[in-house]
Amino acid sequence: MQRNTVAKVNSLLRQATSRHASTLARPAVAASAARLSAAVPLSAIPAHRAISASAVRCSAATAAKAAPKCPDNYKDPKYEKYVKVPEGKKIVILGFGAIGSGVLPLLFRHIDMTPSQVLVISDQYSQKQRDHAASYGVQLETAKLVRNDYKAALEKHLQEGDFLVNLSVDVSSCALIEFCQAKNVLYMDTCNEPWAGGYSDPNVSAAERTNYAFREEALEFRKKFAKDGPTALITHGANPGLVSHFVKQGLLDIARDTGVKVAVPTTREGWAKLAQQLDIKTIHISERDTQASRSVIKHDQEFVNTWSIEGYVEEGKQPAELGWGTHEKHWPHDGMNHDNGCKAAIYLNRPGAITNVRTWTPFSGSFHGMLITHTEAISIADYFTLQGKDGKVEYRPTVHFAYHACDNAWMSLHQVAGREWIRHPEERVMVDEIDDGRDELGVLLMGHKKGAYWYGSDLTIQKTRELVHYNNATSLQVCTGVLTGIVYAYENPRKGVVEPEEIEHQRIMQIGANYLGKLHGQYTDWTPLVRRNILFPEKIDESDPWQFQNFRVQ
Ligand SMILES: NC(=O)c1ccc[n+]([C@@H]2O[C@H](COP(=O)([O-])OP(=O)(O)OC[C@H]3O[C@@H](n4cnc5c(N)ncnc54)[C@H](O)[C@@H]3O)[C@@H](O)[C@H]2O)c1
Repeated sequence: MQRNTVAKVNSLLRQATSRHASTLARPAVAASAARLSAAVPLSAIPAHRAISASAVRCSAATAAKAAPKCPDNYKDPKYEKYVKVPEGKKIVILGFGAIGSGVLPLLFRHIDMTPSQVLVISDQYSQKQRDHAASYGVQLETAKLVRNDYKAALEKHLQEGDFLVNLSVDVSSCALIEFCQAKNVLYMDTCNEPWAGGYSDPNVSAAERTNYAFREEALEFRKKFAKDGPTALITHGANPGLVSHFVKQGLLDIARDTGVKVAVPTTREGWAKLAQQLDIKTIHISERDTQASRSVIKHDQEFVNTWSIEGYVEEGKQPAELGWGTHEKHWPHDGMNHDNGCKAAIYLNRPGAITNVRTWTPFSGSFHGMLITHTEAISIADYFTLQGKDGKVEYRPTVHFAYHACDNAWMSLHQVAGREWIRHPEERVMVDEIDDGRDELGVLLMGHKKGAYWYGSDLTIQKTRELVHYNNATSLQVCTGVLTGIVYAYENPRKGVVEPEEIEHQRIMQIGANYLGKLHGQYTDWTPLVRRNILFPEKIDESDPWQFQNFRVQ
C-alpha cells in the first residue's frame, strides 16, 4: 500500500506552524541552527540572528536533557492494577499509531509492569511519538515487517510467556498468530489484517477481498492449533471488539424490560436462543463521530480522521458486507453469496464507502451511515445463528455496521471515492486540535417487543480528556478494548485462538466501563420507515420495518 512520506512530512510541518505546533518540527529548526553555528562564529552573528544562536544552545540542551516528564501519575493507587506482567517477561506492542500510542497510558495505569517490560516495534515514529514513549521510559525499535521478512524482528524480542499486542496495519494477523502459537506467546489484535495490499488487490475477486474471506481463513487456520494453546484474542478493539459484549448486555436489558425471565446464558446456543426468543431481527453497529476542530480546518488536499486513515480508506474500498438474517424477504439486486464457510454473511458487489444505510443513535438521532464491512457483522451473525437438527438455519439476525465518521473523515473519504480511490497528498489524525464533539458507538437491537434499543458508549472529547491524555474519544473506545483484551488474556492464558463473542462479557464490561463515558441503553420508536415515501415514491416494505431493503439508501 502506498505511504506518502513526503506528504506526511508536509502535513506535519503545516501542523507545526499552526497554533497547535507539533514537536515534529523541532529537529528541523535545531538542525538548521546547528548548520549556522558551524559556519559562523557566534560573535559574528548580528542581533536579529542571535535567536538562531540561542536555538543552538537550546538544541544542545535538548540533546542532553532527561526524558520528557510523564504526564500521568500512573502509580497512583487509585488505578487498580488488574494483572501483572510476570518477572522476566514483556509486552511487545507492534505499531505505534493512533491506537498503539493511545493505549500506553492505560497499560501503565492498570497492568503491573516496569517500563523495561514494554517494547514498541514500528516502521516509523514521529518526534511526538518518541517523546510520548520516552516519558514512560519505553524503548522503541524501528522495523518494517513484510511478508518475506517478519520473523527475525519478532524472534529477537519474543520468548515464551511474552505478549504480542498487534496494533499495526499491513501486517498479516494470521502470520503473527502462527508465530505466537509456535512460541507460546500471548497475542491480541483489533483487526484481522492481511499483508499490505490484501484489502484492495485488483487481481483477486471481490469475494476474496471480503472480511468474510479473511475471517474464514483465520477460523480454518485456528484448527491447526491446540484448543488450550496460548490465548490469541483476535479483533478485540471497540468494533470489532467491545460491541459484541454490548450486544449481550443489550439482550439482557431487553429481557429484563419485557418480562422475560432468564439466567445469563453461558453457551453460544444459550445466547442465540435468547436473541431468538426476544425476536431480535436486525442489529446495527451504529456509530456517529461528531468530533471537530474549529481552529484547524481541513483543506482540500488533506485527509482528516480520528484514527487510522490507511485503515479507514482500505475498509471503505472493500465490498459492503452484512450478516444476513433469516427474516429477510428481499434479496439485494447486487447481493452475493459465499460458497464456502459459515455462510452467515453476504456481500454487495460495491464498495462500502459508497453504500449508505439509515440508522439511529441516542444523541444524534437518525442519520445515514456507511455500510462499511467489519468483522463483527459476520462474527456476531454467525455466533447468534441457530440450526435445526438437519443443519438448516432456523434463526439468525441481520447484522451490519452503519458508520458516520467525523465530518472531516466523511468528506475525506467521499473525496477519495470521487478520485477513484486516489488518496490525498496530506493526512492528519485529529487529537489535540479537537474542540468539541463525541463518539457515540453502540449496538441498535431491533424487532423485539419494544421496537429498538441502543446500548453503547457516548464519549465526549471533554470527558476523554478528563479520563486520560494522548487520546480522542474514538481512540479511547478502541484502547479500552485493547486494555480489557490484554487483561482477559493474562487472566485466561490457555484459551487458544478466540473471537470476542466467545469470551465472557461481564469482566470486560466491568473494566471497560471506566473509560467509555456514558455507557447506557435507550429505547426508541425510530424505524427506517419514519418520514419515508413523502417527497418521492420509494420501494419499501411496510409489513416489516426491519427488512434490510428499508434501511438501505437507494
Ligand atoms: N477494532 C476497532 O475498534 C479498531 C478501531 C480503530 C483501529 N483499529 C485497528 O487497529 C490497528 C491500528 O490502528 P491505528 O488507528 O493505530 O492505525 P495507524 O495507521 O494510526 O497506525 C498503524 C501503525 O502501524 C505501523 N506500521 C504500518 N506498517 C507497518 C509494518 N509493515 N511494520 C511495522 N509497523 C507498521 C505504522 O507506522 C503505525 O505506527 C489497525 O489494524 C486498525 O484497523 C481497530
